[in-house]
Amino acid sequence: MLGFVQHGVNSHATGMWRNTTDKIGFHFARPEYWQHMARTMERGLFDAMFIADELAPYSTFQDSSDATIKYAVQCPTHEPSTIVPIITGATKHLGVGVTLSTMFTHPYAMCRILSSLDHLSGGRVAWNVVSSYSKSEWEAYGHVEMTPRSERYEKMEEYMDVCYQLWDSWEPGAIVADKASGIYADPSKVKLVDHDGPYFKCKGRHFCAPSPQGRPVLWQAGSSGRGRDFAAKHAEAIFAVHPGVERMRLYADDLNQRLETTFKRPAGSVKLIYGLQTVVAETRSEAQEKYERIKACIPLEGAIAWISGHFGLDFSKMDLSENVQNIEVPGIQGLFESIIYAKDPLGRVPVTVKEAALIYAQGMGMPVAVGTARDIADQMETYMDEGGADGFMLAATYTPGCFEEFVDLVVPELQRRGRLRRAYEGTTLRENLLAS
Ligand SMILES: Cc1cc2nc3c(=O)[nH]c(=O)nc-3n(C[C@H](O)[C@H](O)[C@H](O)COP(=O)(O)O)c2cc1C
Repeated sequence: MLGFVQHGVNSHATGMWRNTTDKIGFHFARPEYWQHMARTMERGLFDAMFIADELAPYSTFQDSSDATIKYAVQCPTHEPSTIVPIITGATKHLGVGVTLSTMFTHPYAMCRILSSLDHLSGGRVAWNVVSSYSKSEWEAYGHVEMTPRSERYEKMEEYMDVCYQLWDSWEPGAIVADKASGIYADPSKVKLVDHDGPYFKCKGRHFCAPSPQGRPVLWQAGSSGRGRDFAAKHAEAIFAVHPGVERMRLYADDLNQRLETTFKRPAGSVKLIYGLQTVVAETRSEAQEKYERIKACIPLEGAIAWISGHFGLDFSKMDLSENVQNIEVPGIQGLFESIIYAKDPLGRVPVTVKEAALIYAQGMGMPVAVGTARDIADQMETYMDEGGADGFMLAATYTPGCFEEFVDLVVPELQRRGRLRRAYEGTTLRENLLAS
């Protein structure tokens, strides 16, 4: 189980900052908020808090970031790695998944940041490997044109190769720390990485001592064909969003096929974590009322600005009643599918621009489970047993309340059914994640 958030005023449920139950007594940019969320998730024995990120406000809608800023569409969003030590400092077992883009940071610097975080957390860090899909990110980093998807994946392949060389460069026993002789480390056991590739050059030794996990847990959410291959090759866990159990099953089968045939990894060896949004209460009618209040917070223009940003198309140029089913999007393909198939697993029922925006703005196209703890546990069991889910990424609505309610109501129900741990199995994130 993971909690899905951003280091910002509003995560993936658009307009949620307006909800009267959001962040009562907390400010998103203060440590107390993150410490409380972390302790809440650890109380519920979550594997990790997962911090999504992008690098700049979306500017695809009307060729401007005005609507993004006006409606707090994942904006402001602060830098995600800065809160990792705050979260892990407040907890003993909870891991943190941190999204860091490979596009504008040299792999040498990336490895150093992640190894440092892995040390400070005692081995509780995962890295969500992304490649910056939005034009606003590229423009903010001084690029006129975005590198196309397939080339971004090629670049990421080489990026990972450099990272592996760096992380693996300190051999076991390299650190001697012999005060009498004055020798701290044996240079013959610390390899000099000398990489000269089409995209990256790197000559040097990794500057960090080997961290508790050796390298962070590798996480991926690519969902185009190329993205799925990348995930099947490198990832230990995958984050995917599918609106219903049929699409989940297709995805799980496809991924297992890629694992076995192309990458010679056993089926099931990558943890499949599906996005889910939950709205729980003691009674169904109370849960439904909460859900209506959540939906009422969504500003339509802000929602359209968000889909424009994520999918790389200016939806202001389309009529609100136009069907989105048959259009090509340059942005996040996998998440677009959560809309196309939102009403029907075969995508036969048209979805208009307005519907697409409102579906997506609730929680990035994730299925929503609304009801009592038993209703929600039932739905989760179906996704596990029939959809191949190994776990769930729970999208935030109002915080920290949505996680407190989940932990107080749903966690005991899942434990009662034997679907959730009663104690952490290991000390590192990798140990806990692989055991669960
Ligand atoms: C569920 C999900 C969550 C994602 N979260 C992020 C994110 O937080 N930051 C980011 O830059 N990209 C994110 N992405 C984008 C992907 O990691 C990937 O770079 C992008 O989808 C382009 O590859 P694709 O076309 O293969 O999906 C996410 C994608 C999915 C499916």
